[in-house]
Formats: sequence, structure tokens, C-alpha cells
Amino acid sequence: ARRNGRGSPNPAVKNFFVLMTFCFHHAATSCSKGCYCSETGEGVKTVRCSNTRLGEIPQDIPNDTHRLYLDFNNIAAVPADAFRDLTLLVELDLSHNIIAKLESGAFRGLNERLQLLDLSSNRLMSLNKDAFGNLKARTNLSNNPWHCDCALQNLLPTMELDPVSLAGIVCETAVPEEYAGKPFLLAKDVDFCNVSKKTTDVAMLVTMFGWFTMVISYLVYYVRQNQEDARRHLEYLKSLPSKQRKSEESSTISTVV
Ligand SMILES: *[C@@H]1O[C@H](CO)[C@@H](O)[C@H](O)[C@H]1NC(C)=O
Ligand SMILES: *[C@@H]1O[C@H](CO)[C@@H](O)[C@H](O)[C@H]1NC(C)=O
Repeated sequence: ARRNGRGSPNPAVKNFFVLMTFCFHHAATSCSKGCYCSETGEGVKTVRCSNTRLGEIPQDIPNDTHRLYLDFNNIAAVPADAFRDLTLLVELDLSHNIIAKLESGAFRGLNERLQLLDLSSNRLMSLNKDAFGNLKARTNLSNNPWHCDCALQNLLPTMELDPVSLAGIVCETAVPEEYAGKPFLLAKDVDFCNVSKKTTDVAMLVTMFGWFTMVISYLVYYVRQNQEDARRHLEYLKSLPSKQRKSEESSTISTVV
């Protein structure tokens, strides 16, 4: 348009802007594609995108949405700023997806207004503190393959999650292993960090013992081999004529001794 100088803007560019304006207007006021929207008399807006084979979080969710259902889809990750414009959100359902990763800033923009966050039945093994920011919503974390270890134990107290949320964490795998299959809260008096340290200590000890054994066996082998050589050498000397033998024998014996 600038290249046309003082003339009116190129019609194609003008159409593009009309289209863009329409799109933004569309996004801000109506429903996300493939989703079902409804609004109560009090203006509480609900957007349902459940079971619609979504592979990622739609970017055209109306910014005045209060309740958003994205459950039963194929969403694998929650990227940064995925819900940035949804400042009125009260409830967010991401359950029954394949979410394995919550990126830093994933829930940025959501604030204390959010009361319910459902992340149940996903593929989360660990949490990312920077994903949650200062979210205080009650969060359903159940039915995920949690890996309970020192890192998780250190992380949880630093997060402002509702305490009820933690009840949903059941360890699928754990370090130490004996907590696999158990609710994380059941093991809350266990110091996961200390136990894992002990494990490394034991591993270290075993490794050192292994090395020590190898060195000793080598020494034993070396000494035996030498004794054998010395004995053979002596026998050889005995078979020599006696004159030469006497002097050689005494020197060999002194060497061996
Ligand atoms: C939604 O977006 C429109 C257009 O950008 C803006 O005017 C409006 O204030 C936004 N509403 C909320 C609740 O953020
Ligand atoms: C969490 O989600 C699971 C299933 O996804 C459900 O059975 C359970 O009742 C929920 N828990 C809470 C506290 O809402």
C-alpha cells in the first residue's frame, strides 16, 4: 500500500484488512469452530469442545468464556499463553487428553478467578511450577502416571495449588521404588531426597568395592605369575653346569627374596 504513494490503498490489501477485522470480530463475539457455545441469562458463557478430536488448544475461543470444556480430545501439550485472553475463565476442563507437558507460562493470564482446573486422565509425570504461576484453583491431578521423586517433593510446597489437589497424585513410578502405586500424600513424611541420596551412596560403595576386588585379584595374579617365573628360572639354572650355576643361583635367590 505504501508503494502506491498518495493513491488509495491497493484493493487486495483493503480486502485483507476487512477480512482480518471480520475474523477478530468473529473470534471475540461468536463461538470457536467445531465447538458448542451457550450462554445463560446472567451472561455466563460456556464453550464445549469435548470429544471433537482436537490435537491442540484452539486459538479462537471467545475471550468472554467462563467455562471451557476441552476434555476427551487428543491434546498433547499446553503451550505458553494458551489461555492468555480468557481472563474471565472460572472453570477449565482438560481431562482425558494425552497431555504430557505443561510449558512454562501455560496458564498465564488465568488468575484467581479460575476455580476449577481439571487435568485428570492425562499423561503427566511431573509438574512444571512455571506453568501454574500463582494459580490457586482446585486442580484435579488424578489418573496421571506421576513419577514421585525428590524433585516432585521439593516442588509441591512451592506451588499455591489447593491442598485438595494433591490428593489426586498417585505415584505410578517412584524413587525409591517402594512408593510406586501409592498416593503421594501417604508418603508425605518420607524424605524422598534423602532416600535417593542413600541409594547413590550404596551404588558408589558397590562400585568402589568392585574396583578394589579387581585391583586385589590383579595383584594376586601378578604375584603368582612372578613366583611361577622365578621357579622356572631356578629350575633352568639347576640344569646348567654347576660352576656358572652357583653364582647365578645365589643372585636369583637374592632377587626373589
Ligand atoms: C475481548 O476482546 C475485545 C476485542 O479485542 C475487547 O474489546 C474486550 O475487552 C475483551 N473482553 C475481555 C473480557 O477481555
Ligand atoms: C478427578 O477426575 C476423576 C476422573 O477424571 C474423577 O473421577 C474424580 O472424581 C475427580 N476428582 C475431583 C476431586 O474432582
